Amino acid sequence: MKSPLKIAVAGLGTVGAGTLQLLERHAERLAVRAGRPIVVTAVSARNRQADRGADLSSMRWCADALELAAIPDVDVVVELIGGSDGVARQLVEAALAAGKHVVTANKALMAHHGTALAQEAEKHGVALTFEAAVAGGIPIIKTLREGLAANRISRVYGILNGTTNYILTTMRESGREFAEVLAEAQKLGYAEADPSFDIDGVDASHKLAILASVAFGRPVDLAGVYTEGIRHVSRLDIDFAEELGYRIKLLGIARLTENGLEQRVHPCMVKRATPIAAVEGVFNGIVAEGDFVGRVVLEGRGAGAHPTASAVVADLVDIAAGHHVPTFGVPAASLEKLPGAPMESHRGAYYIRLMVLDQPGVIADIAAALRDQQVSMESMIQHGRAPGEAVPIVLTTHDTVEAAMRRALEAIAKLGTVLEPPRMIRIEDF
Ligand SMILES: NC(=O)c1ccc[n+]([C@@H]2O[C@H](COP(=O)([O-])OP(=O)(O)OC[C@H]3O[C@@H](n4cnc5c(N)ncnc54)[C@H](OP(=O)(O)O)[C@@H]3O)[C@@H](O)[C@H]2O)c1
Repeated sequence: MKSPLKIAVAGLGTVGAGTLQLLERHAERLAVRAGRPIVVTAVSARNRQADRGADLSSMRWCADALELAAIPDVDVVVELIGGSDGVARQLVEAALAAGKHVVTANKALMAHHGTALAQEAEKHGVALTFEAAVAGGIPIIKTLREGLAANRISRVYGILNGTTNYILTTMRESGREFAEVLAEAQKLGYAEADPSFDIDGVDASHKLAILASVAFGRPVDLAGVYTEGIRHVSRLDIDFAEELGYRIKLLGIARLTENGLEQRVHPCMVKRATPIAAVEGVFNGIVAEGDFVGRVVLEGRGAGAHPTASAVVADLVDIAAGHHVPTFGVPAASLEKLPGAPMESHRGAYYIRLMVLDQPGVIADIAAALRDQQVSMESMIQHGRAPGEAVPIVLTTHDTVEAAMRRALEAIAKLGTVLEPPRMIRIEDF
C-alpha cells in the first residue's frame, strides 16, 4: 500500500468532529478505497479541552490554525471553521500557496471567493474540493461535475436549506404560523439563535451560486442571485397552496435563459406530485436537468455531523486516490462569464393573495389593474362572503413577466379596498 495521505483539520465543531469520527471508525475501509491510509496528523480549534468524540492523542495541536498550512509533511488542509473571510480564508489561501490540497465545507467562502481560489489551486497544481458545502451529505457537486459531465445542463434547482424546509413542512402539518414554528425550530436546534441567514435565503443563495457555477461552467456570481426568504409566507398561503394542488418550498433555481443566467432563491409553489414537493422536514433535494440524461433527482440530509462528514471524507478519498478534477469542473480560465438575467425579466405564473374589503366592485378593480399590465388571470378563490369585512382572495395567473406583475401589484396595493400589501409567490412549472 502507498504511503498515507496526511491531513490537517482546522475546526472541530459539528463537521470537524464528525469528520474525525468517520476517519477513525472507517479507517480500514477508507484505506482500501483510497489505496492508502488517510491519517490526521494535526488539528486546530479554539478550545483544546473540549471533547470531540475522537482520539486526538496522536495529532499535533495548533492553537493558530494558520500553522497547519506551514507543516511540511501535511498533504491536505481541511478547513471546517466557517465564514467567508477571516481565518478560514487566510488558511485556505495559505494552504494553496504552500502547494497543499484543500477540502472545505465552507459555502460562504466558496460563494464569495470560489473563482479566485480555484485559480489559485490551479496555479499550484492542487485540488480544492467542497462537496460538503452544498446540501451536506448529498453528492451533488460530484454528480454535476463528473457524473453528468457529458450533458449540457439546462436547469438545476432544489431545496438547499433544511431549516426553512423544516419550518414550511411543520407549518403545513401543524397548521401553525411562521413565528411559532421558528421558535420551536430554534429550541430543537434546527435554527440558529439568529436565524436570518437561513430564513432570509442567504445560505441557500450561497449554495445556489456554487451549484450554478459547477452546472454551467461560469464564475461564481453571488451578486447575481435574486434572494427572498420565507418570513412573509403565512399559514393562509400554505392552506391555499394545498387547495390549488401545490406545496410551498424555498427553492434555489438556476437556469440558462435567452436573457442570460437566471439565479433565484425564493418561496415557490410546486405541484404536489413533483419529486421536490415530497422532500420534507430537514431534508434537502436537488434536481438537475441534462440534455442527454433528462432529469436526475437527489435527496438526503443537507446538514449534521455525519452527513456532512460523509461528503468531506469522500473528497479526501478522491485526493488520496490521486483523482483530481478542476474545482468547478472546467479549468478556471475556461469559466465563461455570462450576463445575469434580471429578475424583472423572469417569466412564469404567479399566486397572489389579497386581503380585501368584501364589497361590490372590488374584483372588477383588481381585474382592471391586471388587465392594464396584460396579466392574464387563470383562477380565483374566495371562500364565502362577509359583506363589509376583510376577506382573503387568491388569484393565480398565466405566464407573465415579473416586471408587469410587480406593476400590477403596485396598482392593486393602492386600491382603497385592499387592506394589506399583496402577497406574491411564484409558481414553478416542474
Ligand atoms: N453544521 C453543518 O451541518 C454544516 C453543513 C454543511 C456545511 N457546514 C459548513 O462547515 C463549516 C463548519 O461548520 P460547523 O457547523 O461545524 O461549525 P461549528 O460547529 O461552529 O465549528 C466551528 C469550529 O471552528 C473552530 N474555530 C473557530 N474559530 C477558529 C479559529 N480562529 N481557529 C481555529 N478554529 C476555530 C471552533 O473551535 P471550538 O470548537 O474550540 O469553539 C469549532 O471547532 C462551516 O463553513 C459551515 O458552513 C456545516
